[in-house]
Amino acid sequence: MMILSKYAKMIEWAIDIHPHCHIFESLSPNQLSSKKWMIEELKNIVDNKEIQKIEIVGSWYGYPLIQYLRENLFIEKIECWDIDKEARMISNMYNEIFESKDFVSVYGKNYWEHSRDGSESTLLINTSSEHMKESFYMMNQLHRKNKFYVKDPLVVIQSNDMRHIDEHINCVDSEDELISKHKIRKVFYASSRNIIEWHDERIEETKYKRFMVIGQI
Ligand SMILES: C[S@@+](CC[C@H](N)C(=O)[O-])C[C@H]1O[C@@H](n2cnc3c(N)ncnc32)[C@H](O)[C@@H]1O
Repeated sequence: MMILSKYAKMIEWAIDIHPHCHIFESLSPNQLSSKKWMIEELKNIVDNKEIQKIEIVGSWYGYPLIQYLRENLFIEKIECWDIDKEARMISNMYNEIFESKDFVSVYGKNYWEHSRDGSESTLLINTSSEHMKESFYMMNQLHRKNKFYVKDPLVVIQSNDMRHIDEHINCVDSEDELISKHKIRKVFYASSRNIIEWHDERIEETKYKRFMVIGQI
């Protein structure tokens, strides 16, 4: 019942402290529907009694994805990785307001270049793949001798074909291209959907597509 009120509080805080942030965009029909899509498909693949250790790359503000994950999976911890300081500050405030500080950590390093021991993650999420060339496969290659992902995690990757946005340096035109670019060895789910957005007072399908693959590297 208080969820909407928490989002209202977050928006009020964010536009006051970070007036140029993209909090409205992060709660757009495009963002909400793509995260809901991911959760619906994950629920068909993941046993909700299995404990999940999750890494989110390019986690941006973390929410609403963390809310959906929390409502649908059995989570031990979530690591959010984002190189943008403002995004991390907003993420941290979300964790305060949604009381998720005890299981969500926010890191500021470039996910693909940081060094640490092998990850014990069971679920890797990258819904920002259009923003980065690297893939989880690369992490495994870099740490070839000591396999980086010790548990053979499930991987979820989303990208899109919205090339007109400057920061989008890794768009794809099909789910097959997404699979081959990221060298997904085992595919459990792959599909595409038209992106929806506000068009005046209505939410309508656009001509652009979002692609998603769920699999293992
Ligand atoms: C603007 S969001 C895009 C959101 C995405 N379209 C989605 O639906 O989730 C992309 C985020 O990725 C982050 N990012 C880009 N490269 C990164 C990297 N190498 N490591 C961690 N975060 C990264 C950016 O700072 C940004 O916050």
